[in-house]
Amino acid sequence: MVTILLMVISYILGSVPNALWIGKVFKGIDIREHGSRNTGSTNAARVLGTKLGILTLILDISKGLVPTLLAILLKVNFFEELTKISNLDYVLVGICAILGHVFSIFMNFKGGKAVATTLGVFLVLVPKAILFAAIVFFVIFAISRYVSLSSIFAAISLPIFIYFLYHQGIYTVLGILIAILITVKHRSNIERLKNGTESKFTLKKKK
Ligand code: G3P
Repeated sequence: MVTILLMVISYILGSVPNALWIGKVFKGIDIREHGSRNTGSTNAARVLGTKLGILTLILDISKGLVPTLLAILLKVNFFEELTKISNLDYVLVGICAILGHVFSIFMNFKGGKAVATTLGVFLVLVPKAILFAAIVFFVIFAISRYVSLSSIFAAISLPIFIYFLYHQGIYTVLGILIAILITVKHRSNIERLKNGTESKFTLKKKK
């Protein structure tokens, strides 16, 4: 039952809209009305400035990392006992954090594009695969300067790295599902990339 409690905590934690609340508290603005209108760390950096963007990124990563790490430290195995699928509990706790970020209870079940919170979850579960996906991200970013394109490529590459580095079916399935979710959540970015209106990422200090 600890797993179910952790899943609920994970979803609520994942729901915390860091970019929205940081924007309101520090700048008195609703980030949903600025930049790409996304409540993620990229748009936080774009609209609120580099420091607040980094703060949002750290908090969004933590939303996925903390409950997943807690599940591992507590060695929860409620669903694993029921299904005999190894590590299912960790995956379910991680999924809840990501779903909380995308379908937040604090934003009428709307939310971000899942990238940073996914990073937090997979950093705990499959760190080597994250390292390689991060390399993919930075290579695409160095070439294009598009965070969205880099995020999509990194997300799609992640289950491939998980499969070859970990041979873990359940983590690979989770990786595939999250890659689909991240790609779907970036559909407005894909449209803008196609018609040449996606903004390239530059860091600028906000007063
Ligand atoms: O993590 C989201 C990023 O990939 C794109 O953000 O604000 O440019 O839509 P944004």
